[in-house]
Amino acid sequence: MTIAITAAGGHLGRLIVEDLLGRGVPAEQIRAVVRTPEKVQDLAERGVQVVRGDYTDGAGLAEALRGADKWIFISSLGPDEERLRQHLIAAEAGKEAGVGHVIYTSIPNAETNPIGFASVHKNTEIAVQETGLPYTFLRNNWYWENLTASLPVAVEHGAIIGSVGEGLIAYAGRADYAAAAAAVATTEGHEGKVYELTGDRAFSSAEIAAEVSRQTGKEIAAVNLDPDVYRTTLEGFGLPAYLAAGLADADVQIAGGALAQVTDTLRTLIGRPTTTVADAVAEALKG
Ligand SMILES: NC(=O)c1ccc[n+]([C@@H]2O[C@H](COP(=O)([O-])OP(=O)(O)OC[C@H]3O[C@@H](n4cnc5c(N)ncnc54)[C@H](OP(=O)(O)O)[C@@H]3O)[C@@H](O)[C@H]2O)c1
Repeated sequence: MTIAITAAGGHLGRLIVEDLLGRGVPAEQIRAVVRTPEKVQDLAERGVQVVRGDYTDGAGLAEALRGADKWIFISSLGPDEERLRQHLIAAEAGKEAGVGHVIYTSIPNAETNPIGFASVHKNTEIAVQETGLPYTFLRNNWYWENLTASLPVAVEHGAIIGSVGEGLIAYAGRADYAAAAAAVATTEGHEGKVYELTGDRAFSSAEIAAEVSRQTGKEIAAVNLDPDVYRTTLEGFGLPAYLAAGLADADVQIAGGALAQVTDTLRTLIGRPTTTVADAVAEALKG
């Protein structure tokens, strides 16, 4: 059995590798496919196969995926058009390599989700289906870490900013989604399945701000910004323009309910509750 993970050196990829190792998958059966092998030298030292592979190089990626029974295809980064281009190359490489099962990380309700980022995922899902390979789509809701990465700054300024209004997000931890990917790669019965993966509850920004206030003893407000103001604020923090625009757009759609759906699929796959708001906030405040 070989389980290949592409974009394995990123946050999610590393967590998936750790989860697989934690489940007792022998290191030599795990193949971390990365752009820069030096960045995952630690994994190679633990016996994980480390292979070079880039979504922009189809022939190289097909070589890297050859012999994989399972391929955890983690979505790429960048402007939508470039990301989709890479994903289409990757799907074709998976077909060329003849991988046994493609497990793609997608977005909730990819076909109908109004968030701009969703079109890449919708079209990638179609491309994966068109390869004719067995597939599973892991439609991940937002990571807690999207919010908690900037929590120390939010605490400093007394405000969690965004444009989601009263909109709810069914956050789960990256490690929860990683565990789901590892579970799907190591257990039977997932081929042809589309999993809507969410936290056990959906939260408003106000509820999260209240939890941060409780844990810090400082008054933290959920501040709702005009989407254009939010976009330019994110750009001011150094985010690339495409990402700032994408995140502001996402918030507008979240205000309309785009990420509010809650399912028990994630907790069922991982066999435990998903990360709670209290734990996500506490972890971020540890620094
Ligand atoms: N659901 C959510 O809330 C959410 C939030 C953010 C992102 N995402 C999506 O989920 C993915 C994984 O999240 P993450 O937190 O692990 O992101 P991350 O830490 O930024 O990792 C992204 C990975 O993509 C790799 N990558 C970028 N371009 C590539 C290319 N051309 N070929 C191969 N690999 C490439 C990077 O490789 P290098 O290490 O070589 O740079 C990196 O390992 C993201 O890429 C994004 O599509 C989801």
